[in-house]
Amino acid sequence: MTVTMNQTQLLLELEPVVEANLNRHLGMAKDWLPHEYVPWTDGTNYDGPLGGEAWAVEQSQISDVARSSLVVNLLTEDNLPSYHHEIASLFGREAAWGEWVHRWTAEEGRHAIAIRDYLLTTRAVDPVQLEQLRMQHMSVGYSNGHPDDMLASLAYVSFQELATRVSHRNTGKLTEEPVADQLLTRVAADENLHMVFYRNLLGAALELAPNQAMRAITDVVKGFQMPGSDIAGFQRKAVEMAIAGVYDIRQHRDDVVSPVLRYWKVFELEGLDAEGEKARQELADIMAELEKQALRFEDKRDALKARMAARG
Ligand SMILES: [Fe+2]
Ligand SMILES: [Fe+2]
Repeated sequence: MTVTMNQTQLLLELEPVVEANLNRHLGMAKDWLPHEYVPWTDGTNYDGPLGGEAWAVEQSQISDVARSSLVVNLLTEDNLPSYHHEIASLFGREAAWGEWVHRWTAEEGRHAIAIRDYLLTTRAVDPVQLEQLRMQHMSVGYSNGHPDDMLASLAYVSFQELATRVSHRNTGKLTEEPVADQLLTRVAADENLHMVFYRNLLGAALELAPNQAMRAITDVVKGFQMPGSDIAGFQRKAVEMAIAGVYDIRQHRDDVVSPVLRYWKVFELEGLDAEGEKARQELADIMAELEKQALRFEDKRDALKARMAARG
């Protein structure tokens, strides 16, 4: 007979795993300083109360798509109060869970601080538009697509942290600007450690409640949306970013979802019940469908690039 664990049981059972992985994280994380990554002497005052110069696109040293990508990545980081609310509600603020929630929040806070300081100092993006978008985005807030579902939430953040890592890393390269690249590489390294934490936790959950965890993973892979997907104009920006190689469906399938599934050994796991097997079969079908979508995307992108090259 399969035992279904409720949220409280899962929290209690996973507590020692949280503690061990929190300690692991604290041992691995590098305590970097955001101010060291910003080229302050490049900065000048803006118009407004200080009477400086208004932003103009010619001041930006990076491409349109790198600008879009930096704005999307920063706005995603900006919504931290909502993410904090979601994980604090779900994980609680007690013992190791609480310690992780606060530590994670503090690290994520550094990302928005550093990226914003860089963008404003270098005049890389329109500061007025950035602020308008931030207000809009934060006013909507973020809500977990799997409220009250601990396992699905852990599966989601495992993929999402890795997706964010890929997106920051590739955005850094796309800027062709060494200072931005260095900063985003640093941020991406943090996201990788966050992914490892959540991935290890869900790995333990797979041992504890394999059928429930399998269902959670399948549901999350099926409906995966990036946390910034409700940013105004996101769809158009996401297409540009995909074509530029920041984050596309091929990377999503092969560099984000697949490696995490492999780590969990979901397709080798033994002893699943009928429900667990059904979830696993659905997951295999979704991965096959993602492969088809990735191939279609690559064809379209190659055709588009060939047309652009022909135009010169
Ligand atoms: Fe972050
Ligand atoms: Fe993160």
